[in-house]
Amino acid sequence: MTLLLSHLEKLKEEAQRCSLCSLGAQRNKSVFSDGCEKAPIMFIGEAPGQNEDETGIPFIGRAGQLLRKYLFETGYKQEDFYIANTVKCRPPKNRKPTPDEKNACRYFLQKQIEYVNPKVIVLVGATALESFINDKKLTISKARGKIYEMEGRKYVPIFHPSYLLRYHSLEENSPRDLFKKDLVMIKKMKF
Ligand code: URA
Repeated sequence: MTLLLSHLEKLKEEAQRCSLCSLGAQRNKSVFSDGCEKAPIMFIGEAPGQNEDETGIPFIGRAGQLLRKYLFETGYKQEDFYIANTVKCRPPKNRKPTPDEKNACRYFLQKQIEYVNPKVIVLVGATALESFINDKKLTISKARGKIYEMEGRKYVPIFHPSYLLRYHSLEENSPRDLFKKDLVMIKKMKF
């Protein structure tokens, strides 16, 4: 019996064997994606952490649980989103991925974008922002909640949920309040 794999499943298998950068040698699991492969909204985070490296699932640790909590609280359904990261393997001690590591992994991310073909890409945090918008002066605080259109695709930067872990307040314009407002705005975007 032959098993028919989708483009994304084949790509995921490739990522599991990947040794394009040195992160591959240190991983337990490569962390490819979670969510719906036909989703209109794709979230791109920074890099897997320890929980992700152990499970192979992106955004499953504390920051990820917070992202998922706010997604469901603001009305997102499982079929609305697909989640990936700028790199598929965990950088040691959770440091930021280097430009070389991101470039080596770009092949996988570009193919994921091509195959999922989302209507909007949500750049979760500064690392994802820098990977897509080439403007050294642009900070995540300035960029968040704005819609950037490039090559026919819409991008919206948002805070990284690990930033929110430091701020618990939900008062007007607090990081958590802005994060929730951005999620609501993205959900309401007309594709
Ligand atoms: N932070 C990220 O950016 N990605 C994950 O998958 C987990 C934490």
